[in-house]
Amino acid sequence: MKARLTRRGFVRAAAAGSALTASLKTRRAAAVTADKPALLGGTPANQASWPSWPQWQQSWEPRILEILRSGRWFRGSGGGSIADFETGYAKLLGAKRCLATASGTTALITALHAMGLDAGDEVIVSPYTFIATYNAILIHKALPVFADTDPATLTMDPATVESRITDRTRLILPVHIFGMPCDMNPINTVAARHGLGVVEDACQAWLAEYQGKKCGTLADLGCFSFQNSKHIPSGEGGAISGNSDELVDRCTAFHNCGRATGVFQGKGCFTRGSNFRMQHYQAAMLVQQFDKLVEETEIRRANADHLIAGLAKIAGVAPARLPGNSRAVWHLFPLRIDSEQLNGLSRDGFVRALRAEGVPCSAVYHEQYFDGLLDEAIQSRGFKRLFSEKRLKDYRESFEALAGNRQVCQTTVGLSQNLLLAQHSQVEHILEAIEKICDHSGELASK
Ligand SMILES: Cc1ncc(COP(=O)(O)O)c(C=O)c1O
Repeated sequence: MKARLTRRGFVRAAAAGSALTASLKTRRAAAVTADKPALLGGTPANQASWPSWPQWQQSWEPRILEILRSGRWFRGSGGGSIADFETGYAKLLGAKRCLATASGTTALITALHAMGLDAGDEVIVSPYTFIATYNAILIHKALPVFADTDPATLTMDPATVESRITDRTRLILPVHIFGMPCDMNPINTVAARHGLGVVEDACQAWLAEYQGKKCGTLADLGCFSFQNSKHIPSGEGGAISGNSDELVDRCTAFHNCGRATGVFQGKGCFTRGSNFRMQHYQAAMLVQQFDKLVEETEIRRANADHLIAGLAKIAGVAPARLPGNSRAVWHLFPLRIDSEQLNGLSRDGFVRALRAEGVPCSAVYHEQYFDGLLDEAIQSRGFKRLFSEKRLKDYRESFEALAGNRQVCQTTVGLSQNLLLAQHSQVEHILEAIEKICDHSGELASK
């Protein structure tokens, strides 16, 4: 393991005391402590607080109050802030249409219905995602069939999609996890070859780009979340983007209690549907954050680029690889930990050490298919009626073969998006912390 410490820790430690009175002896001692990982008694690389999230602005209040006083709180027959949001968000994405929904989950449920998903169907999906992606399929009494995860990109490995196709497969549901675009061209090619629809789970990928187009416009429909932690939050909220009037009108009908809409008139006035509507308050918050989203996306990108450049000089910790000609938006910034290069320091040990440095981080997703949710589903009366015993047995056994996803779940550390909104100098502390941990990985591993 190379030692590349730049004495940035020393400068910070020395500055913390009085520069005038610090003797050479105490400065040397400070340098030694600052260069040591905090878990081994050193000074944490970061001692400042990180930008908080979500952020509220006083300038948003008049519009919210206006809605409150108008008594027109639900979307009704159109207009108002929801229409402003739908037009504005479609424009931001470069999509023909956008439909506001109550959440990302309801956006996914709606989009899957509009694409014709039915009980007993199968959907090929990324396993490395928030659990809502699985549940949006299960709620249709359809089977989430997992493609493997590419350990380099953390997204759906396109090479593993085709082998999952059966005569029940209806759709492919790639997830642009952490705001990193999936490699959509090969996924769309397989879908076209087999006549399958594709829905993008872009719930973490507002303004992410692939080959010059925004995520959410790369397939039949795209789904977004505006939940509290997201880059453009409204407490709860979601959206569906698409270029087909027919599909988006189907979504609109389904999310609005099945009311016939636009070019989709169903068989009469009502078709199957539910109430997944957004409220005007949520839309007003979202519209007022469009510019903020655009500006902050660039800040996150600049800081992420800095991290990526820094990581290139550190062995044992790597960023994720993005597909060619794509731009991520970093809902989380993932670090890929190679324990072998770090003297056996485990991912969880790395998380503990990085947290001790004042850098909040987490292990993010684990192998959720072993948690019991899918067992509960496939043991239910409904699934047993819809799928053969053999299919459900083979399905359950197939989780063991997700070697790429297992590796990702065991080796990833996620830094959350608000860290990337910090000043450049504070983001530098992340690299400093990682360097310290890597330089002392052997001692940390045996701790
Ligand atoms: C990848 C992914 N899919 C779906 C969802 C569901 O969105 P929501 O929480 O708005 O229902 C989320 C939200 O966290 C998500 O991150």
